[in-house]
Amino acid sequence: MKAVDLSINQATCIKCGKCVKVCPSNIIRQDRSDEPAMVESSKGCISCGHCVAVCPSGSVIHSEFPADKVHPVDYALYPTVEQMMLLLKARRSNRAFSTRPIPSGTLDLILEAAHRAPTASNQQQVAFTLITDPAKLRQITEFTIGQFNTAAVKLTNPFLKPVLKRIMPDAYRYLKTFKRLNKEHEKGNDLILRKATAVILIHTPKANRFGSADANLAYQNGSLMAETLGVNQFYTGFVCSAINLDKHRTLEKLLGIDGTIHAGMALGIPIFRYPNYVDRVEIQVTKM
Ligand SMILES: Cc1cc2nc3c(=O)[nH]c(=O)nc-3n(C[C@H](O)[C@H](O)[C@H](O)COP(=O)(O)O)c2cc1C
Repeated sequence: MKAVDLSINQATCIKCGKCVKVCPSNIIRQDRSDEPAMVESSKGCISCGHCVAVCPSGSVIHSEFPADKVHPVDYALYPTVEQMMLLLKARRSNRAFSTRPIPSGTLDLILEAAHRAPTASNQQQVAFTLITDPAKLRQITEFTIGQFNTAAVKLTNPFLKPVLKRIMPDAYRYLKTFKRLNKEHEKGNDLILRKATAVILIHTPKANRFGSADANLAYQNGSLMAETLGVNQFYTGFVCSAINLDKHRTLEKLLGIDGTIHAGMALGIPIFRYPNYVDRVEIQVTKM
């Protein structure tokens, strides 16, 4: 963890104790309510910035958060409950893309939203690779189809089949899909990226234990921003499966990604929007 300078201005602290209550590392202390808060040890600080953000008097001095990195929140600008719920209900994985490119400023907003997602221990190791080069997008589809074809050959090999069926029975469920995807690919029908004009691959360093959770939370932030901007997206599960099948890290090498890809978003400008949303299955909640 990066060493930080953290202290509390004893002269301006208003002794509200909020920084003590919100610190996840429990390194800020206030022994008596009529005394200012003080930092016990900045060693365990994860630089989440809660203490800085919560302080009403600007008394928390943190080396990672100088004044230009601290911004007031106007809660009146939040979407209403109805607006938020409508966004969640109307967001779809819309795969009908126009050939028009997505403006780079729009892609930047989607990336910024994704980057705002929480990460375990505030590690902020999630990185993004944005691909808009049509040749590279085609390579992603071809890589995916190639991996599925290789898997299909192995799964149907009469010598390997008895063993594979026993150790990975799940894989046989996908055999039909692999064959169908390849057949469509040969006809020039891209069922992998659906002619998306952009793909965002979301990755973390290999050693990150919560990499998948962090990356997928980033995905969801980004997808909601895409929906808000009127951009179509869907989760590139096929590409992620192909990446998991490939021991040689072919796609990572091709794109210069040094880490583990956990999620991917295919994006494009819609050719139409849906006039309706439909209900999900009955919610399953256990309340205790
Ligand atoms: C983990 C995951 C993998 C997915 N993989 C794909 C995919 O490879 N291709 C695709 O078109 N959609 C993919 N989807 C989208 C789902 O099919 C979609 O979310 C689901 O049908 C519900 O539809 P909605 O997102 O429009 O509400 C994936 C979604 C998730 C969460």
